[in-house]
Amino acid sequence: MRVLITGGSGELGVRLSRLLVERGHEVTVASRSARPMRDVAAVEMDLATGVGVDSVAGHDTVVHLASDPFGAQRVDVEGTQRLADAATAAGVDHLLAISIVGIDDHPHPYYRAKAEMEKIVEAGGVPWTILRATQFHSLIPRFMDMLPAVGVVPVPRGVSLQPIDVSVVAELLAELVEAGPSGRVADLGGPEVVPLRKMVKDVLGAKRLRRLIVPLPLPRRLGTALRDGRMLTTPTERGQRWADYVAGINPARDLVGRLSMLTAFILLITALWMAVSPATFHSTVAPFGEANDHLFRDVATFTLPLVIGLWMAADRRSWRVPVFAIVAVQNGTHALNHLVDITATDPVWIGVATFVSLVATEALLLWMLVRTLRPEPTPTPTTLRVAA
Ligand SMILES: NC(=O)c1ccc[n+]([C@@H]2O[C@H](COP(=O)([O-])OP(=O)(O)OC[C@H]3O[C@@H](n4cnc5c(N)ncnc54)[C@H](OP(=O)(O)O)[C@@H]3O)[C@@H](O)[C@H]2O)c1
Repeated sequence: MRVLITGGSGELGVRLSRLLVERGHEVTVASRSARPMRDVAAVEMDLATGVGVDSVAGHDTVVHLASDPFGAQRVDVEGTQRLADAATAAGVDHLLAISIVGIDDHPHPYYRAKAEMEKIVEAGGVPWTILRATQFHSLIPRFMDMLPAVGVVPVPRGVSLQPIDVSVVAELLAELVEAGPSGRVADLGGPEVVPLRKMVKDVLGAKRLRRLIVPLPLPRRLGTALRDGRMLTTPTERGQRWADYVAGINPARDLVGRLSMLTAFILLITALWMAVSPATFHSTVAPFGEANDHLFRDVATFTLPLVIGLWMAADRRSWRVPVFAIVAVQNGTHALNHLVDITATDPVWIGVATFVSLVATEALLLWMLVRTLRPEPTPTPTTLRVAA
């Protein structure tokens, strides 16, 4: 079957595309940043503007996963309308959309948009299937990655979720692709209900982060909707449980984060030295030109934002590309400056050693940047197991 997946570059989309390829389907992923993978074609599609939406033509099934919680009206509502119209015009046989458990009459704007998305799919001209799922395991860690590093995590009181293994969702979607249009199918919920506060504490513990969990006040209607259990459903026994997922969050494996922290620490020590004792810094590390205390304090204060950026990027993957790129440019130009003056020091070996250490730092920063840009390996379906 020829299948196009909107949001194919997202967490669920990557897993589904692999699974469908393994099951012998011809897969195209579509999104603003979708890149071809092995045996998977990619097309650019922006549902907010309609760019590339006509690439649904030539596909038997369109799986609609694309979503933007921060631009839900433009993407989930208006974008779905564009997609449904294009799929109808192109004579697509099946439109399969993913939605969220418990969104009926929900006061949260994102959930309201998902409910509207469902209505658009149902009212369109293409035979459809809608699957509602509970929150994926990764939702809480991803949300926490977006928080500023202020040492506080706001959590609404009394809320519990039913986290599900995203591989199970992908597996069921693959089955639904093959089953053909099925209407609204039974909700899919994770194997257990876990208090949100416990989920946050578990993630903090697994990442070895210290944060203060503070109660998040919510408007009454929203608080009730999140607490009254409407977002829970009949549990499935399939897939990984929350505790197993948390056990897999291993900060020790995150070498890039540790190196980012180490680089920040070394820069911080250097900046403090330059700020507190410019004269000894000049005589020990940088004996070229006239000693200039103001210049060293300037460099120290310029360095501090880099320290803060690297420190935050250690815990927040979404910060890494811009922070590493900025620090690499700063360090690279610094290395060039020392190359110009490489023999201007006395003794000369200090000039050479400074240049070599900057080049080594640059190599490390570029390596961290490239590692961060490389897509994460997709877990194989072996992570999918039936819980005992
Ligand atoms: N995460 C959960 O807990 C959960 C639970 C139940 C249901 N769901 C639903 O499952 C679906 C996938 O979730 P996910 O967590 O895998 O999402 P995700 O990782 O955040 O991926 C979202 C996808 O949407 C694409 N997208 C965003 N804006 C777009 C636009 N303007 N035009 C085209 N594509 C756009 C993104 O690609 P680009 O940025 O490259 O455009 C990305 O591929 C969503 O519909 C979500 O509502 C999620």
